[in-house]
Amino acid sequence: MKIQIINGPNLNLLGRREPGVYGSTSFEDYLKELRGQYPDIQLDYYQSNVEGYLIDKIHEVGFDYDGIILNAGAYTHTSVALQDAIRAVKTPVIEVHISNVHKREEFRHKSMISCACAGVICGFGMDSYRLAVEALKVK
Ligand code: DQA
Repeated sequence: MKIQIINGPNLNLLGRREPGVYGSTSFEDYLKELRGQYPDIQLDYYQSNVEGYLIDKIHEVGFDYDGIILNAGAYTHTSVALQDAIRAVKTPVIEVHISNVHKREEFRHKSMISCACAGVICGFGMDSYRLAVEALKVK
């Protein structure tokens, strides 16, 4: 099984960025743990702060991977282009968020991408990514 994790803007700073909201573990450290838990699954990782590069990655993997786990960061709330990219590919996309966006500012309550995704997981800290792997395993 091949899964692509894609993190969007500012998520390269996980561990240092607003630790009260996003925790103090870097994504690289978390990924080591996650890969250790799923030795039989190929878990690839990509991060970009650039909207178009996120779209390019979705196009690149979206016809032969078994799943995409996408934390689009703030583009979640703004990007019709990401919604279209998700609709354009065959691979199921799970939208994830580390924080519970529904407990936060109102502008975070609206997602432009949920309607194109297979499902949404949010609010479980970094564990949101593991829960998304579990969701893809039974898909
Ligand atoms: C986030 C929530 C978004 O609202 C925010 O812009 C992020 C991170 C999360 O993982 O909780 O960058 O996607």
